[in-house]
Amino acid sequence: MAASTAPTSQTHPASLPPSVFTLPQTAQLEALYTIIRDRTTSRGDFLFYSDRIIRLLVEESLNHLPVVPKIVQTPTGATYQGVGFEGKICGVSILRAGEAMEAGLREVCRSVRIGKILIQRDEETALPKLFYSKLPEDIASRYVLLLDPMLATGGSAMKAVEVLQEQGVPEERIIFINLIAAPEGLKRFCGRFPSLRVITGWIDQCLNEKSYIIPGLGDFGERRYCE
Ligand code: URA
Repeated sequence: MAASTAPTSQTHPASLPPSVFTLPQTAQLEALYTIIRDRTTSRGDFLFYSDRIIRLLVEESLNHLPVVPKIVQTPTGATYQGVGFEGKICGVSILRAGEAMEAGLREVCRSVRIGKILIQRDEETALPKLFYSKLPEDIASRYVLLLDPMLATGGSAMKAVEVLQEQGVPEERIIFINLIAAPEGLKRFCGRFPSLRVITGWIDQCLNEKSYIIPGLGDFGERRYCE
């Protein structure tokens, strides 16, 4: 087959909720995903290439933050009428997989505050349950970049948003960043929080009976943290 640099979008549904934004579905991005999806990819390569996608996702999410006019003087003595970011941000990772996205956020936003939320399945009710959270005290006045690489059923992400809302963070100030989303989880999540923006790298086909994303990449935490 001839080489191509054309964007490919065969896994991308035509209609998305208005609050969902994907990375440009370029051949380069698809090549990065092909590496991390490949079961024979080494842990070192999985780390390197998933970090590359995370970096792209973080950069894209910053495009969704508001800016205000800002005027500066350049070294030439000229005046430049530019813009500056408005408001403070913080990251919140959903443990444990979301922790893998923290470094990518720190690379782009120096000394950013990062909170953590641990949600696990309650053995009795089978519902997602909050086990631990540590969040910046002033989180209600910040924009929150919520980090979780895999959006499968959406259960943990929805619970995490509830925790943020209980702390006073409005839905409109939360941006959820993830590598791969399942259509089922995306629909549930966006239906529940229509004004929360989702930045995802790729939307896959479906979930299997064990709630793994198909084709997906397997268990992100296992691939990232275990040999
Ligand atoms: N979490 C993962 O790590 N992989 C999936 O496919 C779904 C959830």
